[in-house]
Amino acid sequence: MRVTASAPGKVILVGEHFVVENEPAVALAINLRALVTVEDNEGSDVFYSKNLGAFVEVKEGRVLKGAGDGFEVLRPLVKIADILRQYSSVKKPFKLTVNSSIPPASGMGSSAAVSVAACAALSRFFNLDIGLDDISKIAYEAEKIVHGKPSGIDNTISTYAGAIIYRKSEGFIRLDIQIDSAAVIIADSGIPRRTGEMVKQVRDLKKRYPEVLDPLYHAAGHLSIEAARALEEGDLWKLGELMNINHGLLSAIGVSNMKLEELVYTARRAGALGAKITGAGGGGCIIAIAYKKKADNIARALKKVASRVYVLEATRKGVSIDEVVS
Ligand code: MEV
Repeated sequence: MRVTASAPGKVILVGEHFVVENEPAVALAINLRALVTVEDNEGSDVFYSKNLGAFVEVKEGRVLKGAGDGFEVLRPLVKIADILRQYSSVKKPFKLTVNSSIPPASGMGSSAAVSVAACAALSRFFNLDIGLDDISKIAYEAEKIVHGKPSGIDNTISTYAGAIIYRKSEGFIRLDIQIDSAAVIIADSGIPRRTGEMVKQVRDLKKRYPEVLDPLYHAAGHLSIEAARALEEGDLWKLGELMNINHGLLSAIGVSNMKLEELVYTARRAGALGAKITGAGGGGCIIAIAYKKKADNIARALKKVASRVYVLEATRKGVSIDEVVS
């Protein structure tokens, strides 16, 4: 038997950092997917990542062999297989292959997308009939191993796609997005992300100036709610404007730098409706929203100053079983 499943990556559209202090944030699924194939194998379970050139071989819960930086990255998948096998009468060994078009460590949810796709492919292989909620929950359990206590944004958006608005104390609401005419352009600064350091730096700043920063947090919360409305109304102009304001707030809390500003202004000058840092800042990527007809122009301009540029779009296609060969 061979099963192939896939799941999308994501970007944070608005609200990063402010979300840490319980303000809402909005995440959007993008049309880059992680593909996971599970097929029969002889003797032991093998987990293999084409992208990372890493593999792990496991038999009866024991790691027999591993190569590459594999184990850390593949560990959630071993956990998912353990969880699912418990509920299945199918005990045969398998080979699981990851082939993802989502760049790793980019803030685009690569790890969760792989876990979600693996969960779908393995559950079919084990002949289990599990729903989307279970897929998302099991992927979350697996992600905890590597990422501590993630917010749950990534596994949720990768399972259901579209967009979600998320607030720590309240969880998720799925949004009915109407942005088919939008290009989502991501440009990588080439400077590594420093999420932990940035989160700490922002927390320290907020402690020093609570009265100054509290209203900015408040504003960011309202902004996310407005942005969610703009997504549902398909109002790209409004969404772009809100993204620009959000970028200003992120600059104000100190997570921008010259390179990120250059990318943001390059995108805007080339015709983006809005452009901002996405994720923790300090490095990493910016996101721009534009009408599709402007996308090439923006990408061309960004390629001169960014290390990588992706012209993408939002997707409503969540986790899916793409092929089953018995
Ligand atoms: C990082 O992708 C997003 C931050 O808001 C951190 C977090 O929410 O954990 C900066």
